[in-house]
Amino acid sequence: MPRLSVVLEDFFNIDSFRLAKVIQSIETPVYVYNAHAVINNLNFLTATLSSLIKQKLLIRYAVKANSNNSILKLVAQHGAGVEVVSGGELRRALRASIPTNRIVFSGVGKTREELEFATNEQIEQISVESIEELTLLASLSKKANLCLRLCPNITALTHDKITTGRSCDKFGIALDQLPDAYSVLKANPQLNFLGFSVHIGSQIQSTEPFRETFKILAKLLRDMPGGLEVKRLDLGGGFFVPYHDHEKPFDWKAYAEAILEELGDFQGELVIEPGRFLVANAGVLLTKILYIKKTSEKTFIIVDAGMNDMMRTALYGVQHAIVPVNPSQDSQTQRVDVVGPVCESSDYFAKDIDLPLDLKQGDYLAVTCTGAYGASLSSTYNSRPLIAEVLIDNKRPYLIREAISADYLSTFEPIRLCHET
Ligand SMILES: Cc1ncc(COP(=O)(O)O)c(C=O)c1O
Repeated sequence: MPRLSVVLEDFFNIDSFRLAKVIQSIETPVYVYNAHAVINNLNFLTATLSSLIKQKLLIRYAVKANSNNSILKLVAQHGAGVEVVSGGELRRALRASIPTNRIVFSGVGKTREELEFATNEQIEQISVESIEELTLLASLSKKANLCLRLCPNITALTHDKITTGRSCDKFGIALDQLPDAYSVLKANPQLNFLGFSVHIGSQIQSTEPFRETFKILAKLLRDMPGGLEVKRLDLGGGFFVPYHDHEKPFDWKAYAEAILEELGDFQGELVIEPGRFLVANAGVLLTKILYIKKTSEKTFIIVDAGMNDMMRTALYGVQHAIVPVNPSQDSQTQRVDVVGPVCESSDYFAKDIDLPLDLKQGDYLAVTCTGAYGASLSSTYNSRPLIAEVLIDNKRPYLIREAISADYLSTFEPIRLCHET
């Protein structure tokens, strides 16, 4: 069983003593991130891919994975830009001082206001997801840098709920609608066509779906109509992250080979939009054991974190590895379900896992690999607070988000007439 003390010393760069102090000074549940892990992931990705492919590579971190201001600043300081999917994320990026020429804006439902905002800011790229959106963008009569996000009709061989590139999914422009898109582009010279973007899903382990997508892009490049030049290809994100020891890391070499073999002749720049890969393994969710409830059938470890704090298990049925914060002196284990306090049966983090027998009320557990789609997916369901976030940087813990209480949120619930009759 992995021990968090090992994780802490080798990975979090902080000793158990200081972690204990973090836990004492900030109430659990709390997310704790390691700045070095984020930087290492980013540097590894940049170095590995740049050494294997021919094109200039631009990394645009997918903000939705973890949108904390400090995380955005961290990735920006280390050379990445960002990919946003709403006006709110765009504002976050600007607040984190990310230069507008390093911001990509995707999303199927951008409003007129969001498109106006993005064009006023002259951001690097709007990834346009439908002919209807393109027509609206054109009607603004403003200069806009854009890619056409394609729906390549590729099955990404991942969880159904995070598959985004099939023709039955809502994302991107169908290939047979591209002639219509080209017509709008030609009729509107203020629209600066950069190229194509794709994003076929998340947590994709096999590189084959990526390769199939690159083949489609390569064919499009060969068939481009006169007057439209492809200067960039945005290949999206979706790179697999192992959540358990037995899972193999993403094969970056095979991914780069697919780029070389299918898109090797492309002379423009390449963009990728990693989210999970940069932050997932850089975070843990620390939670306290409230009760150990034994029934004739099960032992439930009831913790103070709930599905509202970390939705991934309830949403996708995936389990994260859970480790005790203090290493056990006892080698014996017990089979348990680790569950939250929320009034839903889907409120669990793990079922039938083995944890030390000597765990007791008041001990702490760490739900590992929760840096991505953890805090950013959380809610206040059951009138629970949005929990605090801590970043460990250079062995020092910083509070990077205060908990936001349900009491505070309820102050935004006045009763007043929306308009005078
Ligand atoms: C357009 C786009 N790019 C990038 C990502 C990041 O995906 P991942 O976190 O799997 O790398 C997403 C996630 O949904 C996305 O929708």
